[in-house]
Amino acid sequence: MDSIPANRRLWNRISSAYQHEHDPQIGARPRLWGMYSIPDAHLHALGDVTGKRVLELGCGAGQWSRALAAEGATVVGLDLSEAQLAAAGRAMGAARYPLVQGAAEQLPFAAGIFDLVFCDFGGLSWAPPHLAVPQAARVLARGGRLVFNVASPWFEACYDEAAGRVTTTLQQDYFGLHAIAEGDGATSYQLTYGDWVKVLRAAGLVIDDLIEPRPGPGTPNGYNETDPPDWAHRWPAELLWVTHKP
Ligand SMILES: C[S@@+](CC[C@H](N)C(=O)[O-])C[C@H]1O[C@@H](n2cnc3c(N)ncnc32)[C@H](O)[C@@H]1O
Repeated sequence: MDSIPANRRLWNRISSAYQHEHDPQIGARPRLWGMYSIPDAHLHALGDVTGKRVLELGCGAGQWSRALAAEGATVVGLDLSEAQLAAAGRAMGAARYPLVQGAAEQLPFAAGIFDLVFCDFGGLSWAPPHLAVPQAARVLARGGRLVFNVASPWFEACYDEAAGRVTTTLQQDYFGLHAIAEGDGATSYQLTYGDWVKVLRAAGLVIDDLIEPRPGPGTPNGYNETDPPDWAHRWPAELLWVTHKP
C-alpha cells in the first residue's frame, strides 16, 4: 500500500497546528526523545555525533537536526512534507544543514554515505518498516548506526479509539497492529516485537539495544491522554531501537 501521498497531505495540513502545540515541548532543549521528552543524556541512545554524517528520517521542524548540527555533525534533514520542511527552514539556527524532501520508503541518496540514520516518531513510524528499514540500512556506511524511537505495541494495543486515550485494557489485537489508519488514507505503522526483529535482521542490521524509555511519575505526555496518568511509568510506551550495520 502506498501511503506516501496521503501522509504528505496529512502533514502539510496539520504542520502549523502541530508545531504550535508541540514545538514548545520538543524544541525546548536539545536531544529530547519521544512523547515524554526524555533527554538522550539519560538514555544514551545516540552518543557523540561530532564529525559524523547524520540523516534524520522524517525530521519535521528539525528540533533534533538543528541540535546535532550545532554539535558538529554533518546533518541532512529529510521529510515528506514541504510544510514541515518550511518550518525546519524557519527554525534553523546558525549551524545550517540541508533539507531534502523525500520519503523513507525511497531514499534519494547513494549507498553507504551516512554514519548515523535516526528518527524520533519519524519515517519509521510513518512508512512501512519492511520498506523503510532496508532503505535506511542501504544508505548507512559499514559500522554506521540506525537508531529510532517508535510507539510500543503495548501503547497501541491499549489505545481506546472511542475514549481517545490509552487505558489498562487491551483494545486492539497485538497481532493485528501493523497499519494504523490516521484519516483520509494517511497511515502510521506499528510492528510486533518479533516483526521488528525480523525486519531489522533481514536488512542486515545488528541489534545492539532496545531501550524502553521510562518517564518518571508525573511526567506529562505531550501527545496522548493516558489512564492512569502515570501509565508510561508502569508500562513501556515507546521502543528505542539501537542497531548497526556490520
Ligand atoms: C511526529 S513527526 C517527527 C518529527 C519530530 N521528531 C517530531 O516529533 O515532531 C513525523 C514526521 O514524519 C514525516 N513523514 C511522514 N511520512 C513520512 C515518510 N514516508 N517519509 C519521511 N517522512 C515522513 C512527517 O511529515 C512528519 O514531519
